[in-house]
Amino acid sequence: MKTISDSKQLRAQIRAWRLAGETIAFVPTMGNLHLGHLTLVDEAKKRATKVVVSIFVNPMQFDNKNDLSNYPRTLQEDQDKLVARQTDLLFTPTPDLIYPKGLDAQTYVEVPGISDILCGASRPGHFRGVATIVAKLFNLVTPDVACFGTKDYQQLQVIRNMVADLSIGTEIIGVPTVRETTGLAKSSRNNYLTEQEMSVAPLLFETMQQLAVAITAGESIVEQIALATDKLNASPFITDYIKVRYANDLSKVTTADQKLVILAAAYLGKARLIDNMVFNPNV
Ligand code: PAJ
Repeated sequence: MKTISDSKQLRAQIRAWRLAGETIAFVPTMGNLHLGHLTLVDEAKKRATKVVVSIFVNPMQFDNKNDLSNYPRTLQEDQDKLVARQTDLLFTPTPDLIYPKGLDAQTYVEVPGISDILCGASRPGHFRGVATIVAKLFNLVTPDVACFGTKDYQQLQVIRNMVADLSIGTEIIGVPTVRETTGLAKSSRNNYLTEQEMSVAPLLFETMQQLAVAITAGESIVEQIALATDKLNASPFITDYIKVRYANDLSKVTTADQKLVILAAAYLGKARLIDNMVFNPNV
């Protein structure tokens, strides 16, 4: 596996591959790789002849400076994991390469509407940062296909909207969430949890499962969300939001007659955990 930090070298490698008739699948990440990320790499391998992974802790998407400086950086371990997964190229740009003029003077990509709800309401500017870095990385890597986790359900919708709106030719693949055996979604932020908090953390997924069962049984969505919120708040969790939305566009539910998604965000100790569950209340 080659590791490249420079955009000229990256473009030269991509050009050489294109001339040789190779296809390219891309997995953007912020590093501290776990099995969730590596499953995206495995999916990418099936979709193209070359796999490019990027590791870049993107300052533009952090609304909190402490969160940015504390974000785990584990490059050596990440490289070893990617080599074992037969990644062809790891791109590790620096903030100076990506944002040479600094963040304030940087042109950005804003996906309207969907960027302002749910996690976008709790973390203003977050999805602008995500859309901007993904657009920039797509322009550098020019992938045929890019893989994203459904774990970050709203992020995936933001990317799908951006790609459609800007006529970007990259196919976007959503890959199911990889979980611990307890049901807890794997996340780099689980590293912030103490052993005690780790034992409480599966409650988030459990609560979503119970909510899905109750809504499928015909119970009131509003009442069940209130119960679920109370249940989480009675534990060491502090709920940011629990919402039920239409799965296709995250718009508000009027009648529970199509695929829905439960989206939840909650604080546990130093971590803000997010998770989601798609379900069809009619089957
Ligand atoms: P990061 O949090 O590192 O996640 C990189 C990719 O891994 C995302 O597509 C995310 O949805 C996926 N992922 C994370 N946990 C997962 C799990 N448990 N199962 C399956 N997939 C999982 O998301 C980002 O980075 C950034 O916002 C990025 C898109 C790289 C832009 O900076």
